[in-house]
Amino acid sequence: MNVPAGVQIRCLRSIDDREIQGLSDVLIDCVEGGASVSFMLPMSRAKAEAFWRSTAASAARGERMVLAAEDASGAIVGTVQVIWAQPENQPHRGDLAKMLVHRRARRRGIGAMLLAAAERSAQEAGKTLLVLDTASDDAERLYERGGWQRVGVIPNYALWPAGGFCATTYYFKPLRA
Ligand SMILES: CC(C)(COP(=O)(O)OP(=O)(O)OC[C@H]1O[C@@H](n2cnc3c(N)ncnc32)[C@H](O)[C@@H]1OP(=O)(O)O)[C@@H](O)C(=O)NCCC(=O)NCCS
Repeated sequence: MNVPAGVQIRCLRSIDDREIQGLSDVLIDCVEGGASVSFMLPMSRAKAEAFWRSTAASAARGERMVLAAEDASGAIVGTVQVIWAQPENQPHRGDLAKMLVHRRARRRGIGAMLLAAAERSAQEAGKTLLVLDTASDDAERLYERGGWQRVGVIPNYALWPAGGFCATTYYFKPLRA
């Protein structure tokens, strides 16, 4: 993998105010750029901060892992999550969620770096199956390059940030035990 210069991936075990701001910048930029990632326009800072504060609380309870990609200046330019909490009959599974890279940092391999780090962490945590869904063509190519298998498309699954239905595509990836 081509590692972008100066970019590091860090697991955010607790998420402080500076990190909430950096993660909010990335989320707002992605939604304003048209990504269907749970939010509608206008994407206010209050909505973004509330999302990351609730994500931080969930991570602190051990329900999920939040990774951040930081550039050479320490600014957060991307993020991804693995949700560990699953029903008791699926302890081996994790869900990959909220893969987000700021538009100014895209097409440099940061998405691929985040994906590889999330998979590695899931494997180290003993997970043997990851699942995700996406409405983004860019993300589909990223996951397929990473060896994820496409399951199928659900039409009219969600809305684009500006309105109008969008489909979602499900993927899975088995991890070696
Ligand atoms: C999907 C997303 C995370 C990809 O992030 P990214 O950092 O741009 O991903 P990468 O840089 O690893 O790969 C993107 C492209 O850049 C190319 N690339 C990677 N490094 C490169 C480099 N050094 N020079 C030129 N191109 C490069 C990759 O080959 C890939 O090409 P492709 O789009 O033609 O397939 C990003 O587009 C995004 O945040 N989208 C909005 C949010 C979203 O929809 N997320 C998905 C939710 S599931």
